[in-house]
Amino acid sequence: MNKETLFIAFSTQKGGMGKTTLSVLIAGHLHYVKGYNVAVIDCDYPQHSIRELRKRDVQQVMSDNYYKRLAHQQFTTLNKKAYTIESSKAADAIGIAEALQQAGDLDFIFFDLPGTLNTPGVLKTLATMDYIFTPISADRIVLESTLQFTSLINDNLITTGKSNIKGLHLIWNMVDGREKTPLYDAYDNAIAELGLEVLKTKVPDSKKFRKEIVSERKMIFRSTLFPVDKSLRKGSNIEELTNEICQIVNR
Ligand SMILES: Nc1ncnc2c1ncn2[C@@H]1O[C@H](COP(=O)(O)OP(=O)(O)OP(=O)(O)O)[C@@H](O)[C@H]1O
Ligand SMILES: [Mg+2]
Repeated sequence: MNKETLFIAFSTQKGGMGKTTLSVLIAGHLHYVKGYNVAVIDCDYPQHSIRELRKRDVQQVMSDNYYKRLAHQQFTTLNKKAYTIESSKAADAIGIAEALQQAGDLDFIFFDLPGTLNTPGVLKTLATMDYIFTPISADRIVLESTLQFTSLINDNLITTGKSNIKGLHLIWNMVDGREKTPLYDAYDNAIAELGLEVLKTKVPDSKKFRKEIVSERKMIFRSTLFPVDKSLRKGSNIEELTNEICQIVNR
């Protein structure tokens, strides 16, 4: 308890790689399943996808007795509220994080940052992270863009000692089950040769990642109020990914 609050960002300049999705799923698993205290700062102006997701989640709970009961049950079992989501411009994120940190006993703060590194405040905020996790997929263009991103972070922030970053790790996301493992092994070797680290846990490509709690009853996947439904958790690797991340960040 009272360990330092860890600042973490799922970040890359490439759009649509799963920054927001992984932030929500990992934050949810840590907060609702593993019992950590989490906050999320949604800096992805102007979409603010996480704040908007929270709005839809709350509406769904308010309008449906099943989810209302579930929320109540969760609240009484866990004896804590849903995690806080703040939305902000990237340039104000650290100020907000420090205020959150002072107000409560937080284990993790996740930052969902815009991919455009020239947005004011993005680099400064990235430099304040303890860990950066970069989602990638097995696609040449994605990998080239990722290498640009990681070199920039390495050269400007990590090796200069001008940052707080203790690790930058890649995460395979949207892994096609039909792709052969040797392909990923070859990529993993190339990545290792570049001195980059990639997580062992791969996140599969699956349509459940596009599911929220709207419409389908009892099937919660991407939600800011509940963890991934147990029946859907299997095969999503969210639990495995959360555990591997905890190992890396020493929590
Ligand atoms: N493992 C996965 N399997 C299938 N779909 C996925 C997976 N991860 C993410 N997606 C989907 O890919 C899309 C992009 O994901 P997401 O919005 O999380 O990416 P992002 O990096 O935050 O994008 P942006 O750059 O727009 O902020 C979403 O529709 C999401 O549901
Ligand atoms: Mg996003």
